[in-house]
Amino acid sequence: MLEVKNVSKSYQLTLVLKDISFQMAQGECLGLIGGSGSGKSTLAKLILGIAQCDEGEVILNGADFQSLKKGELRRARRHVQAVFQDPSASLNPKLRIWKSIIEPLENYPDAVPPFLIEVKADKRKMAEILLSKVGLQQDLMNRYPHQLSGGQRQRAAIARGISLQPSLLICDEPTSSLDVSIQAQILNLLRELKNEFNMSYLFISHDMAAARYMCNRFAVLKEGSLVDLFSADDLFGVNRHPYTRKLIAAAMES
Ligand SMILES: Nc1ncnc2c1ncn2[C@@H]1O[C@H](COP(=O)(O)OP(=O)(O)OP(=O)(O)O)[C@@H](O)[C@H]1O
Ligand SMILES: [Mg+2]
Repeated sequence: MLEVKNVSKSYQLTLVLKDISFQMAQGECLGLIGGSGSGKSTLAKLILGIAQCDEGEVILNGADFQSLKKGELRRARRHVQAVFQDPSASLNPKLRIWKSIIEPLENYPDAVPPFLIEVKADKRKMAEILLSKVGLQQDLMNRYPHQLSGGQRQRAAIARGISLQPSLLICDEPTSSLDVSIQAQILNLLRELKNEFNMSYLFISHDMAAARYMCNRFAVLKEGSLVDLFSADDLFGVNRHPYTRKLIAAAMES
């Protein structure tokens, strides 16, 4: 489904991603773990097609993002959506919640997914279904983002993220800005949605504990290099990189 091949990226003169390669299969959840500044969000931007690699390729469902023309890139990009740490990043403060949620569907009218196709003609109805998928009350739909709680806002951002039923949902620290009591609810919601829609997740976190709850495979970034790539069964395996061991130990302590 996704292939990242020998990708490098610099900002100014600093190399922030160094020769990164990995693959993801449909339906899988890959945890991308690493400290602050290790390049996780930069990698997410390359996969979303909102930043360009200096070297290497990002291939999604057979399409190489770097070599696509504008129109083709636009079509390919709809298969990847993202949920960010700060839900306000994906919700327009001036739009009512229901409008923000269905915005991707308005941008890609030919890409209405099967679970919304019956109500395709009725945008509010599509928003209602999306709200119900993320456990939000219908009466929130006319509010503005600032009139929701942090957890409700993140649910709305998730509703927007799944609206096109993407192949890949990139979750970049989706619970880091939330109260601890809400974090588990959001992780559970993401897990349910993943199963319902057979999406793949790239789950970005600095927290091994949250990633472990979500993911079947892990990639560990350290200072822009992919130092470890392994399946959940091998979390405590003898081949783990010393840095991975450190992250695991830190997660066990907390
Ligand atoms: N637009 C940019 N221009 C210049 N440097 C950038 C830009 N975006 C990121 N960087 C730098 O690239 C490096 C990697 O940043 P990135 O945001 O990918 O890290 P991260 O792993 O997501 O960190 P965090 O866990 O804090 O979110 C950092 O040193 C950062 O300062
Ligand atoms: Mg980041």
